[in-house]
Parts: sequence; structure tokens; C-alpha cells
Amino acid sequence: MYSNQTIPLLAAVLALGLSGPGFAGPRESQIDQWAVAAKAADPAFSGFSAERGRALHTQTFTGGKPDTPSCTTCHGKDTRAAGRTLAGKPIDPVAVSATPLRYTDPAKVEKWFKRNCNEVLGRPCSAREKGDWLAFMLSQ
Ligand code: HEC
Repeated sequence: MYSNQTIPLLAAVLALGLSGPGFAGPRESQIDQWAVAAKAADPAFSGFSAERGRALHTQTFTGGKPDTPSCTTCHGKDTRAAGRTLAGKPIDPVAVSATPLRYTDPAKVEKWFKRNCNEVLGRPCSAREKGDWLAFMLSQ
């Protein structure tokens, strides 16, 4: 577990600015777990990318349900503004700066990633995709 590879990986996570007072909080431990899984899936993995997260968030997919081709279908193009479900119910902004308590319940985070990735991509998101997406939301 604490191999030589763990150190540059943690350094990469820290370098993304995901540290701070809440480093040991649930959001950060979940990100750490995804980093370990992403590294296991791809030894070339060197840290999450907010830019890749932005691309995932705004990309139009064809593998999922036709009425939900992208994350922005419900969460909107402006991450700091409220989104809307297909039924018209408001969704709090996904940017952490706008909704600070977001992503602090790991079970909720995994539940919605599972549901939303299946609806939009037609498959679960990988650990790297989840970490990238959250890195983007933390940067917003
Ligand atoms: C069909 C509408 C819809 C689409 C499309 C959608 N979401 Fe969501 N998402 C929701 C709703 C509703 C919630 C739960 C309400 C909330 O958290 O405010 C949610 C919550 C989440 C959460 C949990 C937030 C938290 O605070 O823990 C994550 C993570 C998430 N979405 C990621 C995504 C990603 C990634 C995509 C694109 C692959 C996506 N969503 C596409 C409707 C959607």
C-alpha cells in the first residue's frame, strides 16, 4: 500500500489544490481512494485533471439515454447556477464554491455517479473519471 509510488501520487493530489483544512474529510478520503484505483487501472495515471473533468461534464454522449446526452442536461452549463431535473425540479449548483457541503457524503456521491453515469454514458464512470469530475467541481 505505502509503496514508493504512493508518494508521488499523493503529491499529485495535493498539487491539485485538494488539500486545506478539510484534507482528512470524507471528500478528500474518497478522492484518495479513487486515485489509488485509477493508478491500479493505469500505472501511467499521475493525478486528476479538472480540465478532463470539464470535458466529461460538457461532452455529448450517445451511449446513454437519448434525453440525457450530457451532465449539463440536468446540472446546466454554469456550474455555479442551479440545475433542473427533466421533471423541472431545481438542483443545487454542482460547484463546491456555490454549494460548499457538496460531495461530503461518500455514499450519496457514489449513488449519483452510478445513476447519472449510466444515464448519460450508458456505463459506470471509472475512478479516474469520477476524480477528474470532482477536481473540476472543486476548481469551480
Ligand atoms: C437526469 C438528470 C441528471 C443528469 C443528466 C446528471 N445528473 Fe447528477 N444529479 C442529478 C440529481 C437529481 C442529483 C441529486 C440532487 C442533488 O445532489 O442536488 C444529482 C447529484 C449528483 C452527484 C452527487 C452530488 C453530491 O452532492 O453528493 C454527482 C456526483 C453527480 N450528480 C454527477 C453527475 C455527473 C458526473 C453527470 C454526467 C455524467 C450527471 N451528474 C448527470 C441529476 C442529474
